Amino acid sequence: MAGNKREHWNSSLGFILATVGSAVGLGNIWRFPTVVVRSGGGAFVLLFLIIVIFIGVPLIMAELTLGRKSQKNIVSTFSTLAPGSKWWLVGFLAILTVFLILSFYSVIAGWALIYFLGSLFGAFAPLDTAGLTQVYGQIAGHPFLPVLGQGMFLTATVFIVISGVTRGIERWSKVLMPGILIIMIVLLGRTLLLEGAIEGVLWFLRPNLELMNLSTALDAVGQVFFSFSLGMGALLTYGSYLSPGENIPRNALLIGLSDVAIAILAGLIVVPALFVFNVEPEVGAGIVFVTLPAIFNTLPGSIIWSSLFFLMLSFAALTSSVSLLEVSVAYLVDEKKWNRTAAAGGLGILTFLVGIPSALSQGVLANRLFLGRNILDFIDFITSSIFLPLGGLLTVIFLAWIWGTNKALTEIYRGSPQFRWGRPWVFTLRFIIPLAILYIFITGFF
Ligand code: PFF
Repeated sequence: MAGNKREHWNSSLGFILATVGSAVGLGNIWRFPTVVVRSGGGAFVLLFLIIVIFIGVPLIMAELTLGRKSQKNIVSTFSTLAPGSKWWLVGFLAILTVFLILSFYSVIAGWALIYFLGSLFGAFAPLDTAGLTQVYGQIAGHPFLPVLGQGMFLTATVFIVISGVTRGIERWSKVLMPGILIIMIVLLGRTLLLEGAIEGVLWFLRPNLELMNLSTALDAVGQVFFSFSLGMGALLTYGSYLSPGENIPRNALLIGLSDVAIAILAGLIVVPALFVFNVEPEVGAGIVFVTLPAIFNTLPGSIIWSSLFFLMLSFAALTSSVSLLEVSVAYLVDEKKWNRTAAAGGLGILTFLVGIPSALSQGVLANRLFLGRNILDFIDFITSSIFLPLGGLLTVIFLAWIWGTNKALTEIYRGSPQFRWGRPWVFTLRFIIPLAILYIFITGFF
């Protein structure tokens, strides 16, 4: 049945949960609080929100519109909407990007899974910060444990993708997303009950405008791209499973706001906890794999808090990795007529093999450096800082200047005839977004 009739989401809710599932992941729970701490609290949050409105949500709309119009995978979307051109190459850039991102994303998610299992068995409960730092080094730097974690995580991802768009991705998102929200609310309640938490909340929310500068702005744009799953065809592919009656602007806004809400929720769990325990927040993996478990260990029932946290992190990563894999699976199923099982299984194995060097990058291969970065950080850097904004830039140029904004608006009006923001949206796509991305590129490189 491969390639005969395109699947469509069973319900708007299912689509929204799956798409929010793609957006919400390590980017929200791990990266966002870290970047906020580094970049000055509320100032960053405010900038982030401005960029969400002017760049994030309009780009979500753009990707969903392209996908829904073409009803095809990322490569064929470009070749169908601009026949005879070379724009399909942008589709391959996206496929390469999602493949590389999944190769290291699954490594970090694998750590989360190992930490979940370890927490369940109380392995971290007796340790203080020094002990946890050592254990983190031992786990991430172990000669095969990270590979095992990565393999288990990819197996779960492949399993969901094999089950299909509605029976796999949609159904699992309906279970996992409410699960994440419930766990987060419980953890938030726990943090806020700590004495002194309110100071952290205020620091997190109060904009200190002096701390806003160019590099904060760059960080914020990168964060929005990664967090919204933009620039690599994930939302476009999910949009291609939408039926014509769906209201794209409303859904885009809902997806953007939900992602922001979850990022802020994660910040409200992590940042006040750091304040209460007077912890100097470490940037990077440390905040999640060392600092938070250390904080949990000072609370009664630490095994429960830390298991819940790492379970939530693994769930969040899973609904994102599923969307990363689906981009290339959709291509193989649509264009090469592969069956889903072969496509997802084959790509899963390939991703696993390509990800092994990243999994070993904190241990056996720690001294293999590229541009001063270990393998995992290097792949993260080239994908997040180069391929991803480039993909976003090309997609927006394609929609606004090649395919045409009139056609895009016609597609949008099919499901939302009352949409009133057409002109500002077009203006943003034509000028603001390309200029902003170009600017980031230039300042990033020179
Ligand atoms: N948005 C995900 C996160 O914040 O963790 C990461 C991600 C998923 C990026 C899917 C790109 C993508 F296509």
